[in-house]
Amino acid sequence: MIHNPNREERDSRNVLIKTFGCQMNKLDSELVFGSLIKEGYTLVTDEESADIILFNTCSVRQKAEDKVYSHLGKLRKYKEERPGMVIGVMGCMAQNEGEKILKRMPHVNLICGTRMFSRLPELLDEVNGSKRHILAIDDDATVDFDRSVAQRPNRFHAFVSIMRGCDNYCSYCIVPYVRGREFSRPREDIVNEVKGLADDGCKEVTLLGQNVNSYGKGLGGNGHFSKLLRQLDRIVGIERIRFVTSHPKDMSQDILEAVGELPTVCENLHMPAQSGSDRVLERMRRRYTSTHYRGLIEMAKTLVPDITIAGDFIVGFSGETDEDFLDTENLMRDVRYQNCFIFKYSPRTGTDAEKFVDDVEEETKKRRNHRLLELQEEISTEENSKRIGKSLEVLVEGTSKTDNQKLTGRTRQNHIVVFDFPESGYPVFPRTNGQAGDPSLYIGKLVNVTIEDATDVTLYGSMDSG
Ligand code: 5AD
Ligand code: SF4
Repeated sequence: MIHNPNREERDSRNVLIKTFGCQMNKLDSELVFGSLIKEGYTLVTDEESADIILFNTCSVRQKAEDKVYSHLGKLRKYKEERPGMVIGVMGCMAQNEGEKILKRMPHVNLICGTRMFSRLPELLDEVNGSKRHILAIDDDATVDFDRSVAQRPNRFHAFVSIMRGCDNYCSYCIVPYVRGREFSRPREDIVNEVKGLADDGCKEVTLLGQNVNSYGKGLGGNGHFSKLLRQLDRIVGIERIRFVTSHPKDMSQDILEAVGELPTVCENLHMPAQSGSDRVLERMRRRYTSTHYRGLIEMAKTLVPDITIAGDFIVGFSGETDEDFLDTENLMRDVRYQNCFIFKYSPRTGTDAEKFVDDVEEETKKRRNHRLLELQEEISTEENSKRIGKSLEVLVEGTSKTDNQKLTGRTRQNHIVVFDFPESGYPVFPRTNGQAGDPSLYIGKLVNVTIEDATDVTLYGSMDSG
């Protein structure tokens, strides 16, 4: 038989997916993994053995897009050596940049927008082994939420999409343009998926949406998100429910009451303020004031004892003065966040803020970014230190990356904990017949850990025995 390298490459179906950006992208990659496995593809984790490399991308800041271009550039030579391989760009940047990617990176074969993921197997069949370029970006295509519960990277945790898109059009943000209009998934579908996950051994779910608090908008009536939480709380087997992201304009008392009352809903909110200055918030079109935001934080702390808050801030937004920045520093100091993500403003083409001048110097953006990081580090260290001496419930995720003799997991309040486990004695809840001292016995279990030390990002301790 004549050896035909092209044919060999057409038949091989090893896929690598590299994910950039937010949790929504991680979930999309998981869903794409699932659909490709069904079609007989094999997933690999290294470039050398991949016949198809897909980049699931982010457009929220210029830096995120630059990073993907730089990765794609590095693959040019690789592709020359293996002309049969397929390189694809999917997700937000595919939607945003479209044909521009093909012009800049002609070795890319496939561009697949945010609403075309369900067609990926078909598109790959079309492109596989051929020299064709395919551009699949359809603004009107519907999003498929379907997932096979069994195909997920983590046995004990799963992301669950409850809505797609965003209707808020914050003036700086590209998400509504690349992800499309807000659309809530029917409640029964979400409940059925979480039931399926619970039956398959999943203990913790994180509900995902750009603005989960407005879940169900357009369906008539109020309180859809709190009703959803109440229904999911009753599913046997699910021990913890988390949700991201909360938008302050749609956060309400009924949601915070549900967080406070429901045993499975974790005491942690990710509720970005973006700025502490009303002038800046107005230009950002966030539709709340810092007073309203502070009121919500107070309500959350009253209704949910021991709640931790995570936030996002953008520094150096167009027109931000030293005084505006001081308002942000003050807000950060008053809320006492557990952790914050801080970003330098990056103008995005097509957004409303593009018409404002990007007038804050890069040096000033850097300085403000640094100042907020420094302040947050101080607050996080102080807040985390308050946990020393306490015994906290931890869902064990695995062994620590830096020391495989230690375990790692998260508290309900979303602290990362690294801890020792007993060499002998009973593994705690639920007791198993396995040998104590084997770390794998604890993975996916709830254990109690007494905290002995803390940094700004990690708590350290020892597992309580018996
Ligand atoms: N520049 C900088 N940060 C941004 N974000 C969104 N758009 C931009 C932008 N143009 C940040 C916001 C948001 C997070 C996901 O990214 O803080 O909450
Ligand atoms: Fe972007 Fe605002 Fe929508 Fe969040 S709520 S995705 S910041 S437009």
